Amino acid sequence: MTEATPARARPQLVRARPPSTATIPFLLNGLQVHARKGDTVLTALLTQAGHLRTSEFLARPRAGFCLMGACQDCWVSCSDGRRVRSCTTLIEPGMSLCLPPAAFSCPAKGDTPVPGMEETGGCTPPHPLGDKPCFPQQDAAQSPVKRTMNPRIIVIGGGPAGIRACEILVSHGLQPTLIDESPRPGGQIYRQPPQGRERPARALYGFEAGKARRLHETAQTLLPHIDYHPETLVWNAAPGMLDLHGPQGMARQAYTHLILATGATDRILPFEGWTIPGVYSLGGAQVSLKHQDCLVGNRVAFVGTGPLLYLVAYQYARQGAHVAGVFDSAPFSAQLRALPGMCRKPAVLAKGLYYLAWLRARGIPIHTSCTPVRVEGSEHVQGLRVRQGSREWTVACDAVATGYGLRSETQLPDLLECEFDYSPLHRAWLPRLDPAGRSSVAGIYLAGDGAGIGGADMAEIAGARAALALLADIGRLVPLRQARSLERRINRWRAFRHALERAFPFPDWQAWPRPGHTLLCRCEEVTCAQAVAALQMDGQPELNRIKALCRVGMGRCQGRMCSSAAAELLAAQGDIDTSSVGRLRSQAPVKPIPLTALGADPSA
Ligand SMILES: Cc1cc2nc3c(=O)[nH]c(=O)nc-3n(C[C@H](O)[C@H](O)[C@H](O)COP(=O)(O)OP(=O)(O)OC[C@H]3O[C@@H](n4cnc5c(N)ncnc54)[C@H](O)[C@@H]3O)c2cc1C
Ligand code: FES
Repeated sequence: MTEATPARARPQLVRARPPSTATIPFLLNGLQVHARKGDTVLTALLTQAGHLRTSEFLARPRAGFCLMGACQDCWVSCSDGRRVRSCTTLIEPGMSLCLPPAAFSCPAKGDTPVPGMEETGGCTPPHPLGDKPCFPQQDAAQSPVKRTMNPRIIVIGGGPAGIRACEILVSHGLQPTLIDESPRPGGQIYRQPPQGRERPARALYGFEAGKARRLHETAQTLLPHIDYHPETLVWNAAPGMLDLHGPQGMARQAYTHLILATGATDRILPFEGWTIPGVYSLGGAQVSLKHQDCLVGNRVAFVGTGPLLYLVAYQYARQGAHVAGVFDSAPFSAQLRALPGMCRKPAVLAKGLYYLAWLRARGIPIHTSCTPVRVEGSEHVQGLRVRQGSREWTVACDAVATGYGLRSETQLPDLLECEFDYSPLHRAWLPRLDPAGRSSVAGIYLAGDGAGIGGADMAEIAGARAALALLADIGRLVPLRQARSLERRINRWRAFRHALERAFPFPDWQAWPRPGHTLLCRCEEVTCAQAVAALQMDGQPELNRIKALCRVGMGRCQGRMCSSAAAELLAAQGDIDTSSVGRLRSQAPVKPIPLTALGADPSA
């Protein structure tokens, strides 16, 4: 058996500290290498390799981007033809994975392949029909997911909103079903590391450690009273029926009432080089640290806007990363002007000021009114060129974390035909809700960031409020005072949200020139120029038409990464408001699922 020599391409991820969990042997391009128990496949690979795959159209290297199952940029091939989404799949002993030779060489002359690789075909290309599931396929009728489910009230999402909704329902004697794509409850902010890789709450969640602990404890006490299905994706929603894909395969689940608490992902704006390995979403950079105890690089530049920009830079610096700088598109004057509004939540404001002061005290450069020009490098990040007014300069770094706030996950309410309205505050189309969280469709409720970005505290309150609304609708007696008090608290958070948006305004597309060859859609590799050409040909700045003409937003991420930018581009080109370009229609499956799970015959 051959032990791998040191990695042949520069590894992208850096462990913040040596993990204490057991080593796990696996095969990489036929050589035996090691990961640590609790590593995702992505961590296992990128701590020894420079990238994961090459893109379909331009054959450019890719190393994932969002690290939370949203962008679909991290699928890797197994030697038996299966493919796995590497950022959400834990490494298992004996897995046999294939990377492009430039990322980590296939067995070189003189290396002895591990016995058995010849029989499995070595580094075979992905199966032409797509992805096989990584676990034995079961007949849906035998699936425990289906057998044990409570058929009536379903909460989708195990973050702050979903857990507080379940808590209220359970306290009224109901047994809701909680379905969550994540393996452990907590959602994005209170995401828990894999079993065996736990760290003290203070180290993971900082000032929010107490809230995280309380939410995790609530989830734990709820478990005997709810029907909990982790690692299960709701990939389709129709009136009265959900389609699920989980550890046991496919299942269908009937419901009468649904609380959607599906959260958000990073809002991304493209710039030249944003698909180069080493560029990650801000949330992705944080997930890497929280969930995997890994830094996305040794020297990281943070570019974008919003409170998360400063928070993640602070978290990285505290973990020993060299923060090359924070480059915020918002002008400092906007932050000053928003100060009175932000004083509505003095504790939150104080935390933000603390992060800022901490970064400044350590001499970390912080620049406002700053936009990225391009990422330098081709196979990996070598620097970030930034612009501030008429001044341009290059920052040396080997990783970039970028994000411009968050965007709600609204595919499920769209499939359920809920009415949407344009929200100028969020610059996005959001499901129309009453103050309690009822959508326009009877029996469908929304709470948390999936209903419009409001933050974790507001998500907890909104989850509880939506559950009370549901209880009232099924004829249960609901304490009106509690309901009104929750609504008042939600409104206070909304007011604070307005102030935050003023402090970190969304950058003006027109004031930020991008060369035409800048990729707009990273899945389909559509450039800004191609989208503009499609618009000029068609003359109608409408997102779905442009999607049909040039495939922007048609890829595996379903527009999660590019739709905000595409809307801004169309609006700027057509000289119209962003609300006028419409919104991308959602389609099932909301995230890729194995074709074999849908009944396709891989041998056909
Ligand atoms: C990457 C990221 C990092 C963040 N970091 C911070 C931070 O450090 N500090 C801070 O104050 N705020 C942070 N936020 C914001 C904060 O996480 C949210 O405000 C808060 O978590 C909202 O709670 P929620 O319950 O609405 O959604 P979430 O916490 O996002 O939970 C939603 C859950 O729904 C699940 N889900 C979604 N769709 C489906 C589906 N179709 N099927 C099954 N399950 C599904 C997801 O897997 C997730 O577990 C972050 C947000 C993101 C996206
Ligand atoms: S990096 Fe895995 S889905 Fe985005």
